Amino acid sequence: MKKDDFFQKMEEFKIALTFDDVRLKSGYSEIMPDQVDLQSKFSKNVHLKIPIVSAAMDTVTEHKMGIAMALLGGLGVIHKNMSPREQASKVAKVKYYLNGLIDKPICVNQKQTITEILEMREKKEYSFSTFPVINDKNQLVGILSQNDFEFCRDNSAQAKEIMSKKVVIASEGTRLEKAYEIMAKNKKKTLPLVNKNKEVVGMYVFKDVQRIMMNNPAEYNTDDNGQLIAAAAIGVNDFERLELLIQEKVNVVVIDTAHADTKLVIENLKEIKKNYNIDVVVGNVSEPESAERLAKAGADGIKVGQGPGSICTTRIIAGIGSPQVSAIYRCSQVADKYGIPVCADGGLRYSGDIPIAIGAGAFSVMMGGMLSGTKEAPGDIIFRDGRQWKSYRGMGSIGALKEHKGSRERYNQLPLSKKELIAEGVEGLKLYKGRLNEVIFQYVNGLKRGMGYVGCSNIEELRQKADFIRISGSGKTESHPHDVLITREPPNYSIDG
Ligand code: XMP
Repeated sequence: MKKDDFFQKMEEFKIALTFDDVRLKSGYSEIMPDQVDLQSKFSKNVHLKIPIVSAAMDTVTEHKMGIAMALLGGLGVIHKNMSPREQASKVAKVKYYLNGLIDKPICVNQKQTITEILEMREKKEYSFSTFPVINDKNQLVGILSQNDFEFCRDNSAQAKEIMSKKVVIASEGTRLEKAYEIMAKNKKKTLPLVNKNKEVVGMYVFKDVQRIMMNNPAEYNTDDNGQLIAAAAIGVNDFERLELLIQEKVNVVVIDTAHADTKLVIENLKEIKKNYNIDVVVGNVSEPESAERLAKAGADGIKVGQGPGSICTTRIIAGIGSPQVSAIYRCSQVADKYGIPVCADGGLRYSGDIPIAIGAGAFSVMMGGMLSGTKEAPGDIIFRDGRQWKSYRGMGSIGALKEHKGSRERYNQLPLSKKELIAEGVEGLKLYKGRLNEVIFQYVNGLKRGMGYVGCSNIEELRQKADFIRISGSGKTESHPHDVLITREPPNYSIDG
């Protein structure tokens, strides 16, 4: 690969580089930015339609960010500074947002009375009122809907007396598009799926299916059931959390630690891979030997980045870490041998850093700071100095360490009393940037432009074809707007980042 020569020369002199030190060489191109394909993957089995992942941080990714990221084709990793149950419920919100297929619809028995059903609905706080009705053999015999409840005069009647018996059904495995066609043709608001024994194995709801079909489902990052892809962070030996997340059908978990190349993490990774059927991304590391140990232990994805983050102080406090672009290149070289995708985590400031990270070998980038000022990030808008801001803090900041066991775990400070905490991050503010889709639109198009300049039609080509040059301080100054008083910042560039 073209870039090998560049990075090997740098390594000969023990020089490690980061985003501001390099640019990609432009080259002959037959590719227009609009023609590029941005599909990639976060882990062996978890695909991305755009190679952008939101960070597992308590000021970046909860369910709102997870939903919005997946709707735009990316992925959000829900942070773990909350109880396992709370985190699992946020994963469920992502998974059921589209409600493509309800795989365990709540059924009622034909002998239950309307009073009993309404009481159950209230007690369990169900917001829906369509229930497939089954007999004692669990076979579908009818359906109860809002109309049946509204027009029922005697609530002591059994379900079988007021249910509709003419139910349009489809067979197990019916896909979303087909379900939409059947429901539209038969003017049915629900479509139960049944197996050979007539047992209910799923159900589609028209308004949800229609919402998916009418928007741009081609853009969504969904699984085979039409549900949004969800990811969540876990700690080391965090089995209760892991099991609850798996129950909610999380697609991938991320063992989220500041230093993943440890005996504890590696043993934990092996145990998860042995006992559970789930993709596991592990991080963070910044050296190829570390990436190799994780690959050998069964990682499905490796997260690279120790200290590049905008709120990180790890390199300053602990004196460790490698500038990010070199770390991505060196770890990717190893991960590629094992067929494991690398996610470049932290340190990105502008959209142009995305093609650089991918050109160096990453399959995806993880962003904290670049997404934290959006509407979908947790936290309210703060007014200060006449401008709008949102909080953004390191998971190793004093605030996060004090408030959350999850953060103390990430920074290996569980046994310490709260007074003795050693921070590896800061707390701050980011300018409010509005809705995520507008922000991601700029990032994605910056990446596409980069690919157009290099002459690459897809992510793999960018990984293979990218070639680098080192730039000097003057080169960096020249790259930014200079010798001008900026009177109007475009939406994709700000001196504030
Ligand atoms: P950006 O640059 O996108 O970085 O804001 C986000 C990434 O930074 C990592 N992270 C931390 N690193 N101390 C650190 O050294 C911290 O307190 C901290 N909090 C987050 C994390 O990998 C995240 O994705």
